[in-house]
Amino acid sequence: KTVGILISGRGSNMMALVEAGIPVGLVASDKPDAPGLGWARERGLATFALSPRGIGKAAYEAEVDAALREAGCELIALAGYMRLLSDDFVAAWRGRIVNIHPSLLPKYKGLDTHARAIAAGDAVAGCSVHVVTEELDAGALLGQAEVPILAGDTPDTLAARVLAAEHRLYPQVLKEFASR
Ligand code: GRF
Repeated sequence: KTVGILISGRGSNMMALVEAGIPVGLVASDKPDAPGLGWARERGLATFALSPRGIGKAAYEAEVDAALREAGCELIALAGYMRLLSDDFVAAWRGRIVNIHPSLLPKYKGLDTHARAIAAGDAVAGCSVHVVTEELDAGALLGQAEVPILAGDTPDTLAARVLAAEHRLYPQVLKEFASR
């Protein structure tokens, strides 16, 4: 199935999906200056960049939806997309949007996951791929990967270890999900 990837920033998970051979119909960003967009363009991928600033969330999402459909996308993979999708958008793509989150859900939904895992004294951290629903980071889990938390870890050192696991997990889970 053709996948549309939504990013907001550097897009390293997008790169991992593309490099794993996932068929990508469109890379879209709410941040026109997202570094990942440049990488996608250099790769010859179709890109779409639009900020909701000025036009409002509903108009912005309608444009994103149209761009994804025109590009033939059947699934959406969120990859560092730092914006909440509206209930209407989620309903229109029900069961066809997945996200990668840098924690072992249901632990640490939302932001600052690595700092929170370290502060809690956890021995393991990790990442989760899940179906996107209206509720933040709460949809059905599709796969998880664990990494150890080491003595002396900072949020940055832990984030780097988790990110490497994200790049392995996301393509693997998305391939499985797309073949359902
Ligand atoms: C990743 O840690 C992802 O799990 C989280 O935001 C980060 C995005 O990184 N949602 P990238 O843009 O994929 O490099």
